[in-house]
Amino acid sequence: PTTHTPLFLRHASQLVTLKGSSNAPLTGAEMEQLHIIEDGSVWIEGGRIQHVGTDEELAALYKERMAEAEVIDASGSLVTPGLVDPHTHLVHAGSRENEFEKRLQGATYMEIMAAGGGIHSTTRATREASHDQLLKESRRRLDAFLLQGVTTVEAKSGYGLEWEHEKKQLEVAQELHRTHMIDIVSTFMGAHAVPADYKERPDEFVDLVMNEMIPEVARLGLAEFNDVFCERGVFTPEQSRRILEAGKKHGLAPKIHADEIEPYAGAELAAEVGAVSADHLLRASEEGIKAMANAGTVAVLLPGTAFFLMADSADARAMIDAGVPVALSTDCNPGSSPTVSLPLIMNLGCLKMGMTPAEALTATTINAAHAIRRGHEVGSLEKGKKADLVLYDVSDYRSLQYAYGVNHARTVIKAGHVI
Ligand code: NIG
Ligand code: FE
Repeated sequence: PTTHTPLFLRHASQLVTLKGSSNAPLTGAEMEQLHIIEDGSVWIEGGRIQHVGTDEELAALYKERMAEAEVIDASGSLVTPGLVDPHTHLVHAGSRENEFEKRLQGATYMEIMAAGGGIHSTTRATREASHDQLLKESRRRLDAFLLQGVTTVEAKSGYGLEWEHEKKQLEVAQELHRTHMIDIVSTFMGAHAVPADYKERPDEFVDLVMNEMIPEVARLGLAEFNDVFCERGVFTPEQSRRILEAGKKHGLAPKIHADEIEPYAGAELAAEVGAVSADHLLRASEEGIKAMANAGTVAVLLPGTAFFLMADSADARAMIDAGVPVALSTDCNPGSSPTVSLPLIMNLGCLKMGMTPAEALTATTINAAHAIRRGHEVGSLEKGKKADLVLYDVSDYRSLQYAYGVNHARTVIKAGHVI
């Protein structure tokens, strides 16, 4: 339909609205409050949500205009806001099955990276790939995201590690944002690894990222966030601080890969620099978690990565109980989490990190939106927001986390378009 035809979605058995959460992410017991409407309906017009309520309310309100609308019968169905993935390495070339097999035989992720594989291997493949090749491979992944009900995706650079190829990755993300139904939010991650030729002089690479790449990213408007892999053997907390502060000077909001493999005071640093989110946090300290709660930093947790690296997951339960707003993400990348399934991530959030099904859904909708500063646009079903919705073959929201490895999404609506 054109966006001029109103869309009237009617009779959802459970309409999960998450209303009232557009200004700040949900914390503590709020993460359980899904604000479900039974026999719920939504009136959509101009790509935006005009009204959300019971079918009785909306049928009365729109009595005069009913005939104009395209009606979607959602009876028997669960309906949620479009899912939001706040942390992916979407744009990359190639895959790393060989390393998967090596890890199964006992090699560790960091050993493989230190020996020139890992991120370096994908960097070689991404440098070799043309813009069009990258576009094609990444578009295929985006299609798969959409089929699972994901309507907004954050995408990082970080497999170029030299300006020409970092720029290429960010331009591919920008083109996908323009040409694909999914909305993409871009993050510059030039500090994803120290490239091989800077191994002996990492601070020179840090200077290059700070003084040459970041200003160009900002000047060309290629990204909104600036991320760094703060980890022993990659970038130190001091180098990470410099990179994140340089980004702030140029209007790029900080994000950080923190405390993934070893405790490294990454959570503390996130709070200190005012990061929008700190991601991974498998080994975050108690003080770091407290500091994040005080600063309002969103914890983006990636239980698929812990699962795939055969590591202990982050402690979502402790973080939620400490007042940290928690979001969930796939971390979609070829090394540590080659998946596009946010529903599977919700399942792992429950089974491996002590989250409730309601918390997991909050973490992949409104809190995920806040983790990429889109809480005012998406992540909940409220008047004025983008009409991103998912209709499922199940009627109870807990089925999404419970019946795992199954794609329950039946119809995806993106900005008022039925896909
Ligand atoms: O978030 N930890 C660093 N970066 C990615 C993995 C990238 C890769 O292995 O290619 C992550 O896990
Ligand atoms: Fe990542």
